[in-house]
Amino acid sequence: MMSKHILARLRPLTRPACRSSQPANYTTHEFHHKLQSRRYSDSPLPSPAAPAPTPPPSAKLYSKSSLNEAELKKFAAISETWWDAEGPFKPLHVMNPTRLAFIRSMLCRHFGKDPSCSRPFEGLKFVDVGCGGGILSEPLARMGAHVTGVDAVEKNIKIAQLHADLDPTTSSIDYLCTTAEKLVEEQRKFDAVLALEVIEHVADPADFCKSLSALTESGGAILISTINRSMRAYATAIVVAEYVLRWLPAGTHDWSSFLTPEELVLIFQRASISVQEMAGFVYNPLTGRWSLSDDIGVNFIAYGTKNRE
Ligand SMILES: C[S@@+](CC[C@H](N)C(=O)[O-])C[C@H]1O[C@@H](n2cnc3c(N)ncnc32)[C@H](O)[C@@H]1O
Repeated sequence: MMSKHILARLRPLTRPACRSSQPANYTTHEFHHKLQSRRYSDSPLPSPAAPAPTPPPSAKLYSKSSLNEAELKKFAAISETWWDAEGPFKPLHVMNPTRLAFIRSMLCRHFGKDPSCSRPFEGLKFVDVGCGGGILSEPLARMGAHVTGVDAVEKNIKIAQLHADLDPTTSSIDYLCTTAEKLVEEQRKFDAVLALEVIEHVADPADFCKSLSALTESGGAILISTINRSMRAYATAIVVAEYVLRWLPAGTHDWSSFLTPEELVLIFQRASISVQEMAGFVYNPLTGRWSLSDDIGVNFIAYGTKNRE
């Protein structure tokens, strides 16, 4: 089920922390070209000769806003439909059991919990960044985690709170209208940090991952899911999902904002996160179901650990 060999394929693209700041099998020119052709970071390019200087611990690293106002407006416009299983968030509802299976399995292994237990995450603090209406936060709370759900759209948080209050097992979720970087400023820390289908909507994915890393306890877990910047993703996640099947409002996704798995691994590395596993989510149009797969060509999820200080 899990994709160890996917990581093995990706690993040559990554670099050991103390060596040159370019991936081992890229030439300097190729690496710089790759970075320059992406619009996810306007930070200075790493020099192949010298590693980037480490800022002093007192430096305020995470103050850059992750907000992309145009993206947030799209979510505010459909916030009342979060729990409509046939509405614009239908793909997330249908995908939820599959992504939860991966998350549960990775986090039970990470924290040494019994996966057959009904509430394996009792006593652990999780944050769900970009929680929307709480589609992921709620099952995590039912599995025993103390969940903080944060979203930049106030209407989403109101809907999430109203829905969670309907059930005593989810009413303990702390919903906050805020951002990851603001939680970092408040020096909040969590055992696990999750951001599913959010990174493609933020202003700067690299800064966003630094904030997620800063929110994670040393040795803690980070999970991100997103869409690959592949031609297949353009054809399926945009053309088919938005324009043919009309699952999502047209314009929900901007293909150029997607990250490839290799880019995510690099961004994670620079944020002191080591990717441990990756898996793809594959949709079967005949059954209408998603399943876990080694195919990370379209939808994929990455589980990483925060490097120990
Ligand atoms: C596609 S939805 C994913 C919702 C949820 N994570 C899930 O998978 O069920 C993306 C969510 O991220 C939120 N969002 C986008 N940018 C954000 C940011 N910079 N900080 C916090 N939330 C953000 C949006 O408001 C929206 O609710």
